[in-house]
Amino acid sequence: MTGQDEAAGRSRGGDDEEERGMAQGHSGHGHGGDAAHGGHAHGGDPGEVRHDREFWEDRYRSAPQVWSGRPNRPLVDEVGDLAPGRALDVACGEGGDALWLAGRGWAVTAVDLAQTALDRVEAAAAEAGPEVAARVRTERVDIATWDAGDGTYDLVTTHFLHLPPEVRTVAFARMSRAVAPGGTLLVVAHHASDLRTTIGRPDLPELFFDPEEVVAALDPGAWDVPVAEARPRPATDPDGREITIRDTVVRAVRRR
Ligand SMILES: C[S@@+](CC[C@H](N)C(=O)[O-])C[C@H]1O[C@@H](n2cnc3c(N)ncnc32)[C@H](O)[C@@H]1O
Repeated sequence: MTGQDEAAGRSRGGDDEEERGMAQGHSGHGHGGDAAHGGHAHGGDPGEVRHDREFWEDRYRSAPQVWSGRPNRPLVDEVGDLAPGRALDVACGEGGDALWLAGRGWAVTAVDLAQTALDRVEAAAAEAGPEVAARVRTERVDIATWDAGDGTYDLVTTHFLHLPPEVRTVAFARMSRAVAPGGTLLVVAHHASDLRTTIGRPDLPELFFDPEEVVAALDPGAWDVPVAEARPRPATDPDGREITIRDTVVRAVRRR
């Protein structure tokens, strides 16, 4: 289970990961229950895709805790050996990743579109104690328009931020620019091949992206890319079947 996994309902415990996380009001998906997977009652066009703040504020207000609070597995695997510095967690949700980083000594700026989520990050950080709380700062931003700064962070990480292609391109540019020389960019998302599984992704291929798209957004003269893959992991589909799905995982290191 990871930070991006739901807090309750389909938990199998351990390191298993649950599925969720796409901003949309699409209602033709058929698995119901999860707003992120088609049960979101926003009215309007049933095929309408939602990416706005209201969607996410409602999503978080719909339950006292939406995600598990645990860090995402790719973060633990890719960043666990790095020396702590300044980190930016983009689309941090309720802060499972941000708090894990802060607990390991990182000074974390946790940003998200939804203030409801950020309030939970603050509460969780306070609960984790003064040392962790002092290392977590939150800011409500839209990554499509927010200037994350130039070379500000030793680590910029984002997990399961699914945006339309044109917005995604801007977001990748902003995130990569924010990485300091020698720093790391980690981008993790649902891989498009999940659409060919029974996991129940919304039929909105444009919201998914492969590792090549992330790599293509990076200047090859300025970045090393030690990891760019469609990483398999076990999951349980809505009908209880054990299946394999994939995450886009890109870890890039800025040379200059
Ligand atoms: C599926 S959740 C993932 C949360 C967290 N990264 C995790 O793994 O638990 C997607 C998050 O993206 C945020 N988000 C959506 N669009 C955004 C945008 N344009 N700028 C910043 N955050 C955004 C949502 O508010 C939501 O918290």
